Amino acid sequence: MNTQVHILGAGGHAAVLIATLEAKGFTVAAIYDDNPDLLNTTIMNVPVRGKVCDLPRDFSGPAAVGIGDNITRHTIVNMFPDCQWVSAVHPSAVVDPSATIGIGTVVFAGVVVQPRSVIGNHVILNTSCSVDHDCVVGDFCHLAPGVRLAGIVTVEEGVFMGIASSTIPQTKVGAWSTVGAGGVVIRDLPPRVTAVGVPVRIIKRHPDWSDNTSLINS
Ligand SMILES: CC(C)(COP(=O)(O)OP(=O)(O)OC[C@H]1O[C@@H](n2cnc3c(N)ncnc32)[C@H](O)[C@@H]1OP(=O)(O)O)[C@@H](O)C(=O)NCCC(=O)NCCS
Repeated sequence: MNTQVHILGAGGHAAVLIATLEAKGFTVAAIYDDNPDLLNTTIMNVPVRGKVCDLPRDFSGPAAVGIGDNITRHTIVNMFPDCQWVSAVHPSAVVDPSATIGIGTVVFAGVVVQPRSVIGNHVILNTSCSVDHDCVVGDFCHLAPGVRLAGIVTVEEGVFMGIASSTIPQTKVGAWSTVGAGGVVIRDLPPRVTAVGVPVRIIKRHPDWSDNTSLINS
């Protein structure tokens, strides 16, 4: 494969993203990020060529977003409606053939996705997380390293599950909510909350951010 992929946004996520893309045989051509300090540096030997906001809005090449934050990733994806968003599953990940993986979704080393699970678009399944049978993971979710979803779990759009957090079977995490590192979800969580602990308790409720289109420049 000799697809030349462009990385939009250079968060900490970008290095593992590049490693995963290269492990799948992609060539990573260049990185774009709005931090001026990164210009003309390299990440994993890939040059930072310019700002995301300098790319033409009709940019249509193969691309991936190097940002782990779900709202920022959502904003970048919506800036470039013509991009060919690349999906990649690391060779050491195990994805059952009956599971599906959406466009722009990346599955890092050591992940396991079990039968009939449906993984949405622009999702990050980070290092060694596991998604058991019949789960639904919505668009723009990020399951951090070591997350464990039991069977028949629904994680709605934009959810961030912190490192080593987990769910018991048949629970639902509401859209754009955050589960803190190590948290255990034992009953449904509503949308747009932060919940922490074992079992999780809600510590914050968040406004609907979807009208905010200026995040990319903040
Ligand atoms: C849950 C989280 C997002 C909260 O961040 P925040 O909104 O800035 O919250 P704060 O740091 O203000 O903490 C608020 C309270 O929750 C507690 N808290 C925060 N995270 C917690 C966690 N994971 N488990 C238990 N308690 C936690 C804090 O101790 C604090 O308690 P206090 O009010 O009694 O002092 C963050 O702590 C977290 O767990 N992030 C996960 C990061 C991660 O997994 N990254 C992986 C990247 S790949």
